[in-house]
Amino acid sequence: MQWIEAGCLEDIPILGARVMRTAQGDIALFRTANNEVFALNDKCPHRNGPLSQGIVHGNRVTCPLHNWVIELVTGSAVAPDEGRTACYPVKVEQGVVSISLRPDELQKSA
Ligand code: FES
Repeated sequence: MQWIEAGCLEDIPILGARVMRTAQGDIALFRTANNEVFALNDKCPHRNGPLSQGIVHGNRVTCPLHNWVIELVTGSAVAPDEGRTACYPVKVEQGVVSISLRPDELQKSA
């Protein structure tokens, strides 16, 4: 797997997100209260709302447009809503965040 550096963990606000611009579009890097980082396409599966501007709670983010709740681990909308946005593998080593631009296996098997 090829990793791309995405900046420092400290640059991502806790319970917030930072946007990384890539050839595949904007990717939102979310940081939870536990300092876990997740990378999702910055597009809500509903109507492409900017998930990076949503509120993180637990391992979920609420879309700022119509309040759909999206699982950060899988990119899936929480029922009763349906849909999924691409998510990407993330690793944090010594405070440096890296992502892989290939959508993960969960996404492929969807
Ligand atoms: S665009 Fe995200 S809930 Fe509608």
